[in-house]
Amino acid sequence: MPLLSVFAVLLGIWLLPIPLAYIGYEVYEFNDPEGRPFVELDPLPIYDFIVVGAGSAGAVVASRLSENPAWNVLLLEAGGDEPEIVSNAPALAANLQMTRIDWGYRTEPMTTACLGLEGSRSKWPRGKVLGGSSVLNYMLYVRGNRRDYDRWESFGNPEWGYDDLLYYFKKSEDNRNPYLARTPYHAAGGYLTVQEAPWRTPLATAFVQAGIEIGYENRDINGESQTGFMIAQGTIRRGSRCSTSRAFLRPIRHRPNLHIVIHAHVLKVNIDHVYKRAWSVTMLHQGRMRIIQARNEIILSAGAVSSPHILMLSGVGPAEHLTELGIPVIQDAAVGLNLQDHIGFGGLAFRVDQPITLVQSRYEDMVSAFRYYVNGEGPMTVLGGVETLAFVHSKYSNVSLDWPDVQFHLIPATIGSDGGQTIRRALGVSNFLWETVYKELSFTDSFSAIPVLLRPKSKGYIKLRSAHPFIPPIIVPNYLTEPEDAAILVEGAKLGLALSQTSALRRFGARLHDTPYPQCVHLGLFTDEYWECCARHYTSTIYHPCGTAKMGNATDPDAVVDPRLRVYGVHSLRVVDASIMPTIVSGNTNAPCIMIGEKAADIIKQDWGFPT
Ligand SMILES: Cc1cc2nc3c(=O)[nH]c(=O)nc-3n(C[C@H](O)[C@H](O)[C@H](O)COP(=O)(O)OP(=O)(O)OC[C@H]3O[C@@H](n4cnc5c(N)ncnc54)[C@H](O)[C@@H]3O)c2cc1C
Ligand SMILES: *[C@@H]1O[C@H](CO)[C@@H](O)[C@H](O)[C@H]1NC(C)=O
Ligand SMILES: *[C@@H]1O[C@H](CO)[C@@H](O)[C@H](O)[C@H]1NC(C)=O
Repeated sequence: MPLLSVFAVLLGIWLLPIPLAYIGYEVYEFNDPEGRPFVELDPLPIYDFIVVGAGSAGAVVASRLSENPAWNVLLLEAGGDEPEIVSNAPALAANLQMTRIDWGYRTEPMTTACLGLEGSRSKWPRGKVLGGSSVLNYMLYVRGNRRDYDRWESFGNPEWGYDDLLYYFKKSEDNRNPYLARTPYHAAGGYLTVQEAPWRTPLATAFVQAGIEIGYENRDINGESQTGFMIAQGTIRRGSRCSTSRAFLRPIRHRPNLHIVIHAHVLKVNIDHVYKRAWSVTMLHQGRMRIIQARNEIILSAGAVSSPHILMLSGVGPAEHLTELGIPVIQDAAVGLNLQDHIGFGGLAFRVDQPITLVQSRYEDMVSAFRYYVNGEGPMTVLGGVETLAFVHSKYSNVSLDWPDVQFHLIPATIGSDGGQTIRRALGVSNFLWETVYKELSFTDSFSAIPVLLRPKSKGYIKLRSAHPFIPPIIVPNYLTEPEDAAILVEGAKLGLALSQTSALRRFGARLHDTPYPQCVHLGLFTDEYWECCARHYTSTIYHPCGTAKMGNATDPDAVVDPRLRVYGVHSLRVVDASIMPTIVSGNTNAPCIMIGEKAADIIKQDWGFPT
């Protein structure tokens, strides 16, 4: 972090009256090449392109389209600018949830999963801010498996195979770890900074060692082959968050043909009933309704919850459902269906005997804050708490395919590490589960191994609760409704146990936190049935909803957009974000969404005859 702003931050908080620190900060901002994007208060009545949503994908699309000086581009974002301080400290990421930059969605109650969460519901944070969910996320940089994309292509989506898409992953990338930047799978010099956290606990490498002991390799999980263990890479720059706003919007903030409007809540896309052409958007901005027209196209990048929400409000969705709510149907389409997400068993906790974990009282102190703000290093830089990633095979997965079905997030902390203050609330763990099982871990040294189901069979849906645009939609993820999904998670839990029993982790006295779940103990401790019951209680979303405006060929009745991301049956309207994934990728979704933004920008340029 640059020196003057460090001053402002440190002094502003602890010593000086706020206004003085603020002036220093503003002076600095004006000349900073990475300074905040300029926001437009009074948008024009018409633009060539309107991009709705400045998240992981939308910020990229707006940045790339405005490379053509002949186009004027409007980027509309419902939230405000990125808060500067807390959001950028990777270890504090969870503190952002349930704040004003979070849409704060919640799923409907479930009977098959999330039983140990408040109201049997999963909290679904989504960024409402320039940068979108890349401002709330845990910053892990993961691309998914080559086969995910080859499968998309095999569904009839030409040029969406891995060999085509690798170019777009690399186009964005500025990998600051030379050992990776040199390989054919990575690149340096792009807008998006990618690197390892500059600080780690002794457990980070111990996790990798443990993986080697159980037969896996330490390798770049974003490279030649995915199966293996690796110290996580993250979208961070000098130890702090590199959101897509910071990466793709700040460096081009002087471009006159890109207008960014914040606190602009888009209510619907207006589509001509006769010609079926999307011609404008209606938004609420500064207390008034405005209609802004698009000469060429409107691009929805509002994310996997809001893009289907806006489409349905605009008359594009399941005809029967829209009619029920009195919304005139423009195009009958499978919008909101095909909802997929990654979930993990969040409760696999282990104790250790040494002071090597992120116990809150030890690290969230003045010294750590100072190390972070002054040098961009120290414990505050751990990526959402996750140090090591692993892609492994359960017994249900064909080892020779290099297409693992389980991912591990290895974290040198548990919900007990902060005494139940923040993480427990962010996850929505019920008081009962906390009191009976995890409270005793409070402020003790412990770590988590979270097995994640990479390709769930269970699918859910999003639909409207009301035709009123400010009422959040109904979210039904149907987690673990397919028995195979639960069976894979059980195998994942057992793999986690095996990891803890390696000498690499035993060295620190690693042992299972074995206080049983009262609701599961009748199934016999540590049987498969017991672990399944636990996974159905402590079901953690990994925050990767996608698939709700599926990309597919013209004969696929579930496809909402074509392989050029144009909405079937509507002219001049595309969807570009996590919604278009036909199947969820085998890994965290931020880098794939950025890739989708890059790819879409080139598609749009090609379609309008602008060289890419
Ligand atoms: C807590 C959390 C942790 C995560 N951790 C990771 C991680 O470590 N690694 C990883 O790879 N992925 C992670 N993810 C997932 C990843 O961040 C998302 O998949 C990705 O950001 C989604 O990108 P998107 O472009 O589809 O949508 P978003 O980034 O959510 O962007 C949508 C944008 O549209 C705006 N918008 C929505 N509705 C409207 C409207 N009506 N009018 C105007 N604007 C609107 C939103 O405010 C938002 O800015 C995490 C997500 C969360 C929430
Ligand atoms: C179109 O998509 C469907 C559904 O994914 C698939 O079965 C079919 O083979 C695809 N057709 C072509 C021509 O790729
Ligand atoms: C695993 O994949 C290999 C390579 O495609 C294939 O030859 C083999 O039949 C598969 N095994 C099983 C059990 O499906």
